[in-house]
Amino acid sequence: MRVIITKDYDEMSIKAARIIAEQVRRKPNSVLGLAAGSTPLGTYKELIRMHREEGLDFSSVITFNLDEYYGLAPDHPQSYHYFMFENFFKHVNINPKNIHTPDGLAKDVKAFCEKYEEEIKKVGGIDLQLLGIGRDGHIAFNEPGSSLAGRTMLVALAEETIKDNARFFKSEEEVPRLAITMGCGTIMEARRILLLANGENKADAIAATVEGPVTSQVTASILQMHPDIIVIVDEAAASKLKRKEYYKYVNRVLEEAGFLNFRCH
Ligand code: F6R
Repeated sequence: MRVIITKDYDEMSIKAARIIAEQVRRKPNSVLGLAAGSTPLGTYKELIRMHREEGLDFSSVITFNLDEYYGLAPDHPQSYHYFMFENFFKHVNINPKNIHTPDGLAKDVKAFCEKYEEEIKKVGGIDLQLLGIGRDGHIAFNEPGSSLAGRTMLVALAEETIKDNARFFKSEEEVPRLAITMGCGTIMEARRILLLANGENKADAIAATVEGPVTSQVTASILQMHPDIIVIVDEAAASKLKRKEYYKYVNRVLEEAGFLNFRCH
């Protein structure tokens, strides 16, 4: 795992956006896996700026979102589909045909989930997967106890997640209890993964993910098994990492030697 610690949220967002932009420039028809939620908002903002001011071109980019609340229509203001259009897609030149989000109204959920997996395969797999992390250590909506090899499926949200996400709804009761999510197995097949976290309330989850044992109780810990995973966290989210100074040292030494972009951590 390469762990990059930034001074604040803005620096985290800019670094993440640069990695995504570099991917898109290198391979204009990149397949990006995307996350909703508060964490990547600054990253999307910076990508939009790069599109407007630097001509970053999304016209051939293909995207797959991680998850969607089950029972919410795509135009529901709290759906992740709506969130992605409002905060990213409608501000860049992405082809709507290339956007994929799980169907929150799928009647035959099993068939839908299989189709989603098939669609990812058909375009050659995900090149770069962007992730946030829940306070309970979830990635996408793989709550504690989920299979670390799971594929896209219907899941029940954990109480903690329902409470956390209630801030986007009028009340906690309104938060859907179910969601369709990519599984940990789906996520792990991405060629490169970028995990972002900011704020003190993510510090325990980040410590468990980076320095704890690999366990289905903290599904993000499976990322330790990925050969190309970059974790970008601000100082607050990094505050419970025991080897914080070492991670900073690694990045400093690699940078000084001009090796920072080498995938050796
Ligand atoms: C969102 C997703 C979730 C969030 C996580 C953190 O698509 O898959 O795993 O990344 O719940 O949410 P925020 O960023 O709102 O703290």
